[in-house]
Amino acid sequence: MSDYRIAILPGDGTGREVALEAQRILDTIEANTNIGFEQTVIPCGGKNYLDTGEEWAEGSFEFCRDEADAIYLGAIGYPGATLDNGDLAGGSVILGMRSGLDLYANVRPIKLYEGVPHKIHGKFTQVWQPGMVDMTILRENTEGLYHSLLRRSADRALGREPYEPPELEFPGLSGEVAYDPRPISSVGSERLMRMGFEIAETRNGAPVDGVQRVTCVDKSNVTRGCQLFRSVFERVALDYPKSELDYSYIDAFMQWITRSPEYYDVVVTSNMFGDIATDLGAVLQGGMGMAASGNIGDNQAFFEPVHGSAPKHAGQNKVNPIASINSVQMMMDWLGRKKSNEQMIQIGTLIDDSVADHLKDGKNLTYDLGGKASCSFVGEGISSRLAEKLAEQF
Ligand code: IPM
Ligand code: MG
Repeated sequence: MSDYRIAILPGDGTGREVALEAQRILDTIEANTNIGFEQTVIPCGGKNYLDTGEEWAEGSFEFCRDEADAIYLGAIGYPGATLDNGDLAGGSVILGMRSGLDLYANVRPIKLYEGVPHKIHGKFTQVWQPGMVDMTILRENTEGLYHSLLRRSADRALGREPYEPPELEFPGLSGEVAYDPRPISSVGSERLMRMGFEIAETRNGAPVDGVQRVTCVDKSNVTRGCQLFRSVFERVALDYPKSELDYSYIDAFMQWITRSPEYYDVVVTSNMFGDIATDLGAVLQGGMGMAASGNIGDNQAFFEPVHGSAPKHAGQNKVNPIASINSVQMMMDWLGRKKSNEQMIQIGTLIDDSVADHLKDGKNLTYDLGGKASCSFVGEGISSRLAEKLAEQF
């Protein structure tokens, strides 16, 4: 019996609903294998801040850092929950873990499953074709425009009094000036890129031609940070001769992934570019309800659906739990590789198969995919498929 300690941070709004479906998947694994999970639920987020005056209880960060084998996060964001400095209440849970646990890679797979309409034209008109979209974007997660977020002067950013002029002079600008530095380091870029090349080895290449391809997305025609990023990419790539190298500027990349997503296999990019690109990526995979992610470092990781807390849908048991379930899939794969537990890697694959079967079947889908099923009904459906597969295999 191997036991893993999992911190469950449901957060706010629909995050709480989809977290229950993540927990159902963990329970299903536990019931059908010899793997056990000790789940510790930690309240956090904007609502928690309004209720208790804290984004999460003291000691929660340390628990995640020192005690948990892996972390799951639902979503953060509650209407009206703002810190005194104007920042999103609960934001320091996500951003604090990303930087505090040094989770330098935000890994965001973008895959269009059979049976799922993508959302480029209208609502549900465009149908899946084999191999249209199957790429993984790695977003640098601790540097760039987010690096100073926990430290910047909020007063200045909000234009509140007292206004302090920036330390740097910006000739030609007048009125109040706010700015966010975007530092990019060679070490931060290199470790992200190594993970990207290593992930490429585990995949089947780009859908269009099966070529193992790693694309560096930047704006090196304009910014210094991106020039460094690209030069690190060229250097690191020498260690991974099996991957074809590809380059794109972020603006052109937005166009290319919309027109020809099948060309892309693994993509590495900087923090804010990856934030933006993966929301477009979600459209290619059927919407935010399908987008899973892993915030991964060398020692710790947290897994979260990319969608937010969606206050207008909260409390209605209606949102799509698949982004959340696939985040658990990523957690199993990561834990399996980290702990050299082959069975857990296989369990990750079985979760993916269960999601794929459910979607292909097409009968019980949530509203965002054109169906009428509830969040928990879809979660139950996928869990029971998983239970069958686990019973068959183990
Ligand atoms: C994301 C989100 C976060 C980010 C927000 C909620 C801070 O948009 O995970 O993509 O900007 O990284
Ligand atoms: Mg985002």
